[in-house]
Amino acid sequence: MPVTAVTGSASGIGAAVCAALRAAGHRIIGIDRANAEVIADLSSHAGRQAAIASVLEQSGGVLDGLICCAGVGVTAPSCGIILAVNYFGVSELLDGLADALAKGEQPAALVIGSVASTYASADQPMVAAMLAGDEGQALELANALGQPQAAYAGSKYAVTCNARQKAVAWAKLGIRLNVVAPGAVETPLHQASLEDARFGQATRQFVAPLGRAGHPEEIATLVAFLQSPQAGFIHGSVVFVDGGMDAMARPTRF
Ligand code: NAI
Repeated sequence: MPVTAVTGSASGIGAAVCAALRAAGHRIIGIDRANAEVIADLSSHAGRQAAIASVLEQSGGVLDGLICCAGVGVTAPSCGIILAVNYFGVSELLDGLADALAKGEQPAALVIGSVASTYASADQPMVAAMLAGDEGQALELANALGQPQAAYAGSKYAVTCNARQKAVAWAKLGIRLNVVAPGAVETPLHQASLEDARFGQATRQFVAPLGRAGHPEEIATLVAFLQSPQAGFIHGSVVFVDGGMDAMARPTRF
């Protein structure tokens, strides 16, 4: 039975991913702030290291899958927390669990990015600091900028780069690694943006060509496929599941 660790397992897309993978026969080690096999706060270095240690203990040091889904949106308490969870809460877990994945059976890892990643770039100092692994500097820059949408887009762009930059090294370890980039999906995170006085209107206007938001199960189905042996040649890819949003915004870039 494949053993897969899933961050953000208690809600939204992460919970749907757990259900889809359980249905596909996986044993799940869920990681979240509550209601999970591993209770941890991924916004701090100490919390991430505790999560890694607990996953290694519960898996016996061998993992077949890892899904980094935990994330916070633009309504998070600060811009720094957006980077701490969405970027460092992913990069540190990928690094900390790589050895366990390398010992797994046809191992695969996956990061939940976002279509918002396409609104950021590597020349932003905040993004450069994330990619350099300088958490103190990155959080300071994000908090000074004070723009949650830029922090969110930057965190998702940087985490996508981080995953893609691992493609060569992780292939040598035998681990596949992909990114799924959702558009708007009906979850508590999305609902909080809709209800927020600052971001509600922009969130409502962010409508995909298909005319609706996605359901968590529509993301989870793809994740389960990408984690399966049937996806054995898919590695280093960024797959948009966004009702056509990226095609509408950037028809000539892909
Ligand atoms: P959600 O709020 O339903 O679930 C997020 C989960 O992450 C929660 O269970 C939460 O407790 C956990 N989490 C947050 N901060 C944490 C921390 N410090 N330590 C441990 N766990 C923590 O949100 P949703 O929508 O399911 O989000 C999942 C992922 O999908 C996120 O990375 C989000 O950025 C991404 N995403 C969501 C979209 C949407 O429209 N819902 C669109 C594009 C990407």
